[in-house]
This record gives sequence, C-alpha cells and structure tokens, in this order.
Amino acid sequence: MANIAMLGSGFIGRFYAESIHGQRSRDRVVAIYARSEKNARKFSDDYGCDLWSTDMEEVISHPSVDLVCIALPNNLHEPAVMACVKHKKAVITTKPLGRNGEEALRMLKAVEEAGIFAGYLEDLCYTPKFLKALASVKEGSLGRILWAKSRETHPGPHSSWFWDKEQAGGGCILDLGCHCIEITRSFIGKDIKPVEVMCWADTQVKPIDAEDHAIGLIKYENGAIAQFETSWTFRGGMDLRDEVMGTEGTIWINNFLRTGFEMFTTGKGGDYIAEKAESDSGWLFPVGDEVNDLGYNHMFTDMFNAFEKGQEPAETFYDGYVVNAIIDAAYRSAKTGIWEKVDLPVWRGQEGLTKEGHLTEYDADHYLIKEEMTHDGRRVVVLKEKASGKFVEKQLN
Ligand SMILES: NC(=O)c1ccc[n+]([C@@H]2O[C@H](COP(=O)([O-])OP(=O)(O)OC[C@H]3O[C@@H](n4cnc5c(N)ncnc54)[C@H](O)[C@@H]3O)[C@@H](O)[C@H]2O)c1
Repeated sequence: MANIAMLGSGFIGRFYAESIHGQRSRDRVVAIYARSEKNARKFSDDYGCDLWSTDMEEVISHPSVDLVCIALPNNLHEPAVMACVKHKKAVITTKPLGRNGEEALRMLKAVEEAGIFAGYLEDLCYTPKFLKALASVKEGSLGRILWAKSRETHPGPHSSWFWDKEQAGGGCILDLGCHCIEITRSFIGKDIKPVEVMCWADTQVKPIDAEDHAIGLIKYENGAIAQFETSWTFRGGMDLRDEVMGTEGTIWINNFLRTGFEMFTTGKGGDYIAEKAESDSGWLFPVGDEVNDLGYNHMFTDMFNAFEKGQEPAETFYDGYVVNAIIDAAYRSAKTGIWEKVDLPVWRGQEGLTKEGHLTEYDADHYLIKEEMTHDGRRVVVLKEKASGKFVEKQLN
C-alpha cells in the first residue's frame, strides 16, 4: 500500500487520483499541494486527503507520505523533483520529464545519486492495447520492426500555462510528441539508439510562439524509422493512433476516436463524452473506461509494485530523458531543415549497430522476394539470382 502526495490539483492530478482510488484500490492520495487554498481544499474534500497545503515542501516532507506524484506544469517538474531529492522521497512524475534534455538529465542524475525510487508517468505506454501490442512485438509476431508511427492530435490543451512557451517549454511536439516518441521507441526497442531526427513544425492557427502542428521522423541505429504526428489544431476530438510495421506483420491501434463504441444523440442529457471531445450531439465516439483505456490503471499498478519491490518500473526517468533528448533534436531540425543528431550524453543501450541483414535466402542461388497465390490459382515465387542479379519468377504448382 502506498500513501501518496499529489502535487497539483488540476486536470491530470484528478485523473491520477481517480485511477489511484479506483475500483477497490488500497493505495491512497493522503496529501495534496495546490497553488490556491480553494483548489487544495476542494481536492482534499473530493479524495479524502488527510493534509492539504499551498506549501509544496510541507506536503512532500510530511511523514505520512511515502511517494510523491508530480502533476504540475512542465516548468515546475524540476524544482518539485529536487524537493523530493532533498527530502529523500520516492517520486513519480507526469510527462514530459523536463522542458528539455538538460533539465531531464539533471533530474535523472539527482534521483539516482539520492538513491530514491523514480518513475516516469507515460500512461500511453500502459494502455491495454499498447501492452498487448508490445507483447506481440516482443514475441516476434511482427518480425523485425521497420517502422513505428504514432499520432496524437487534438484541438489544444485546457489551461493557459500550456500556451506560454516559457512555462510549457514548447508546443505540441513537447506536449504530445513525448507520448508518440516513447510509444514508437518501445516498439522499435528501447535499447536501440535513436540517432537522428528530421522534423517539420509550424504555427498554423494559434496566436502563440510555440508550434501548433508538427510531423517528425526519428532514425534508429539499426535502420528502423519512427514517425510522430502531433497537433494542437486538429478538429474532431482527440485522435490517438499507433501503427507498427515489421517484416512479418502489422499492428494498427486506435485508442480513442474509434474504439468500437459509437453513439447517436440529439444532445439531450449529459454532456461529457470523452477527453477533448468537441461535440455532445450527433454521432459520437465515447470511451468505455477512460482511466483504464488511457493506461492510468496499469501504469500506477506497475509504479506501486515496483516501488514496493525496490525494482525499476517499465517507464523510468532515464526513458523520460531519452524522449527529451529526441525532442530537442526535433526542435533543432525544425529550425535548420536538416537531419539533426540526437545528443545523448548518457546512453545505456546497445552501441554500434548497423542495419540488420535483410535478405531472405531461398536456395543456394536465389534470394526470395515474395511468394503469392494468384487469382488464377498459380502459386508463384519471385526470386533474385545471386550471381546475375536478375529477377525471375517460378511457378510452384
Ligand atoms: N496523459 C498525460 O500523461 C497528461 C495529460 C495532461 C497533462 N499532463 C501533464 O500534467 C502536468 C499538469 O498538467 P494539467 O493538465 O494537470 O494542468 P492544469 O493546469 O490542469 O493543472 C496544473 C496544476 O498545477 C498547479 N500549479 C501550481 N503552480 C502553478 C503555476 N505556477 N501555474 C499553473 N499551475 C500551477 C495548479 O494549481 C493545478 O493544480 C503537465 O506536465 C502536463 O504535461 C499529462
């Protein structure tokens, strides 16, 4: 059982509390820090906390608190982590870990030097669909992973601080791309080094300094490619889709807009449909159990189990730091228009990989290109002759 202090009583702090207190959970949010007394009291009343305060350190250092959960704006992640380090309290923090790689690396080093438990709350790497897909990838059902793509687009965040580049640290690349990057990195393999990024980013609609729309490609050392698509200007709700392509198979995941649940209403009755849904009438796409379908339940289960057993969770500060480093390269590329190297002063995965051998042996003289059953019933193989380099067809039946 974990006694948790929540820092931040806003959008994600409440989602987290719903998940932590959900079903018959034994873990409890026992303390809340919020900026205003009104919000701290309200959160405390709603979730039955023992302590509320507008003083962050009072909450972190309270003896009843085992573990601190950071649900604050991006510019406050680092000071909050450093306060946990000071009081030697286990800490889990929402995404993105830092506003940039430097902040993330400082946080990683600080928690490791202090020897405290630290987890990175990347919920979209814990959705039931993601976990099942990742298991299939790890079992080899898709063969060698060649391309992983992830998209998160919606009409823009709910609070003012997100739109201020200084507090947020960036626009939709940092806010949404962090999810997409960690999803695709997980499918390609977390021990495979991300080497270069090419990114297009622009501010197409909103009156802000940061980007509101961006598309990027990430090259991995083994030749795999990842792709992210992010937007704060997309209309039609929240679009969360992933695709994985391997030599032996393909996965398509739709997490939110098309979950197999479609509803029509004239608009009478309740008006909450799903996060960032733009409409409450007509044909709608509700989500059965948002807290579960967005991965929060599986995420906290992994975090608290790891905390109790003294192990690492599936998503760590190191992962958050790698994601931040990739994002930094994306921002550089969006400015320069060229592939930019990913700067990883700390790298704990494989080194010096090359593109894996990709030729499939058919027989001593040929490589296999493909095998197919044609519409007239012929079973055909297309081959490449090793000696001449010619392409030939053979009928097998
Ligand atoms: N899926 C996800 O993992 C997910 C989703 C949404 C937000 N987030 C992350 O959660 C964090 C908080 O986002 P949110 O959507 O809950 O924001 P929010 O604006 O809804 O809530 C922010 C909370 O921080 C408190 N706060 C303390 N100091 C503040 C300050 N100086 N300025 C503004 N607020 C201050 C506010 O009172 C509020 O309780 C961000 O890092 C964001 O990226 C993660």
